[in-house]
Amino acid sequence: MIFEEEIKGLLDKRVQAKLGGGEKRIEAQHAKGKLTARERIALLLDEGSFEEFDMFVTHRCTDFDMQKQSYMSDGVVTGYGTIDGRLVYVFSQDFTVFGGSLSESFAKKICKLMDQAMKVGAPVIGLNDSGGARIQEGVQSLAGYAEIFQRNIMASGVIPQISAIFGPCAGGAVYSPALTDFIMMSKENSYMFVTGPKVVKTVTGEEVTDEKLGGAMVHASKSGVAHFVADNEEEGMQLIRKLISYLPSNNMEDPPCVDCTDPIDRLDDALNAIIPDNPNKPYDVKDVIHAIIDDAEFLEVHAKFAPNLVVGFAHFNGMPVGIVANQPNYIAGVLDINASRKGARFVRFCDAFNIPIVTLVDVPGFLPGTGQEYGGIIIHGAKFLFAYGEATVPKVTVTLRKSYGGAHDVMSCKQLRGDINYAWPSAEIAVMGGSGAVEILYGRQAKDIADPDERAKFLAEKEAEYRDKFANPYNAAKYGFIDDVIEPRNTRFRIIRALQALATKKDSNPPKKHDNLPL
Ligand code: HXC
Repeated sequence: MIFEEEIKGLLDKRVQAKLGGGEKRIEAQHAKGKLTARERIALLLDEGSFEEFDMFVTHRCTDFDMQKQSYMSDGVVTGYGTIDGRLVYVFSQDFTVFGGSLSESFAKKICKLMDQAMKVGAPVIGLNDSGGARIQEGVQSLAGYAEIFQRNIMASGVIPQISAIFGPCAGGAVYSPALTDFIMMSKENSYMFVTGPKVVKTVTGEEVTDEKLGGAMVHASKSGVAHFVADNEEEGMQLIRKLISYLPSNNMEDPPCVDCTDPIDRLDDALNAIIPDNPNKPYDVKDVIHAIIDDAEFLEVHAKFAPNLVVGFAHFNGMPVGIVANQPNYIAGVLDINASRKGARFVRFCDAFNIPIVTLVDVPGFLPGTGQEYGGIIIHGAKFLFAYGEATVPKVTVTLRKSYGGAHDVMSCKQLRGDINYAWPSAEIAVMGGSGAVEILYGRQAKDIADPDERAKFLAEKEAEYRDKFANPYNAAKYGFIDDVIEPRNTRFRIIRALQALATKKDSNPPKKHDNLPL
């Protein structure tokens, strides 16, 4: 017996479900330059790989005559598929159905997907475009959000969680993306805020637009909420695919290795000359990164936030690593509150997902001043230090130039369980820079010298003496704090050898409920 009619019925239902809130609303979505929920999934996943769950789910609300307005899938498309052949779970909010607002059924769909992703150990990618809690459902949708939050929390550090924001994301709805590992925002049409411009105006009198309050550029450069910005949705999907390529599917797996055609012993002579003669002159640490990694392919995270610290993913001989580097090109690479927050978050992510960390050091210290102290640089700096100290993944450190004071300790020093610590001959590892040290040690003596030329000569001599003693890597190497001083042009090879040696590293922390990271 062939169930022709029933099969036709099924296919008709599928066609209906795929229309979401209807053709008119799809047109309106396109008119705003936005894709629909299903178009986004098709762009994100390998062609034809998507398997949808719960297409026939509808809401159950009867208040406000809601039974008369019911759409299959209820505003969120959920399921699984692959990215470069690897399994991922996806939900995509459908703005054409009640503005993508979250109902009880909608939340249940996301929870079902997250529960399964946890059982099989696969990443969850959420594509957000929503007016928040479904107003007609009231408390049901608040409970639905909390159900999702709880799952975000349980999944944290177990499976990678990635959020893309392609439309509104406001009120408590911001907290699910905020609980995930990475947030990507599209430059147009996306915004995130806890309270929108109207509430801001009522409460504080401040007039501000959606974009200025919570647009992609604001969150990428000022708040640090967004890790990535994409020019458009297509670019956003490519970014997520790229990001996934560096990550293991869960915390029990190693990150996926790829074939490497870039010779591992490639020498880069330019590195021998990259450090300027004048210690106060900057250079671009990204030139160093590009020179040493495979094929100069670097996926920078938080590129616009705290540019004094560069973090991102790369491969060494096909092995994914996280790179953390001070950037002398921006406020001399000093550590401040934002750089510390950025670095701590990245190091902890890498450690949670078995991604080795390569640290490139050129840091003059922490940024002084009341702004930093009142903002709690002590706590934020401690957080960064804590992140390195608790990390058990392989840690390879290369000191390129300055490594001064507390910032020296923070940046993956030997005593914070740095596994292999190299330095270039240009490294200066000391409590502080020459002029500062001389000022403190010989300031009083210098004051007693009446003739300004004589005084300057005295200070210059003392500084030369200090630099001679400390402005080199050998003092630290003498104590074994630096394992070897290496030729800059050979850095790629030495890092790869170090990572190979550390590939089977096992280290652990004492059993505890959880740590008390300075937040
Ligand atoms: C039900 C909603 C909705 C919502 C939008 N719609 N938001 N339906 N609940 N939260 C519906 C609209 O009625 C409309 O239906 C359709 O979605 C498109 O909305 P428009 O307003 O026409 O679109 P647009 O001009 O693009 O504006 C989008 C918007 C706006 C900025 C999101 O709709 C808006 O401000 N919505 C309310 C947002 C809000 O206050 N949400 C609650 C936040 S509190 P039709 O039928 O005309 O197509 C919250 C708490 C969460 O979320 C707490 C978690 C802990």
